[in-house]
Amino acid sequence: MAIRNVREMGEDVLKKNCKEVKEMTPRIRELIDDMLDTMYESSGVGLAAPQVGILKRIVVIDVTGEDPYVLINPKIIEQSGEQTGYEACLSVPGKTGIVTRPNYVKAMAYNEEMQPYEIEATELLARAICHELDHLEGHLYVEKVEGPLRNAEEVEEEME
Ligand code: NI
Repeated sequence: MAIRNVREMGEDVLKKNCKEVKEMTPRIRELIDDMLDTMYESSGVGLAAPQVGILKRIVVIDVTGEDPYVLINPKIIEQSGEQTGYEACLSVPGKTGIVTRPNYVKAMAYNEEMQPYEIEATELLARAICHELDHLEGHLYVEKVEGPLRNAEEVEEEME
C-alpha cells in the first residue's frame, strides 16, 4: 500500500497507448492496490495506470467512495445516449471543463483474478469509464472540452 506520484498533463507517459495485461502478478496486484490508495487519497473517482507512470491497461473507478471497480484490459462494447457536464482529472489539477459522453455504457473487463466480467453503467459511472479508458489510449478529457477549460474553484462557487 502506497501513494504513487500522479503524473500531470504535459508528461509524455500520458500520451501513450497502454499495453494489455497478460497475467496477474504480485507486482500488478501491488500496482492496483496503490492505484486505489492514490485515487482515494486524492478524492478522485477514477485513476488509470498511465497516471502513475505505468503503461498498462488497468483502471480503477469508484464514484461512491465505497464501491471500487478494477478494470483490466477494459473495452466498451455498447454505448448509447448522451450526457453533457463538467469533468475533471487528477492529471489536470484545479481545472474542469464540459465534456459530452454517452449516458450509458456496457464494458467488458477482467478483474484482479483475471476473470472476465461485464459492467453496465449510466451517468457518472458511465462518464468515469469513458474518461479512464481514454487515458489508456493516451487521451485526456481536455481534448474533448466544449468551451474553455475553467478554474475548478470558480465553477464550484457558481454551483453553490
Ligand atoms: Ni483522468
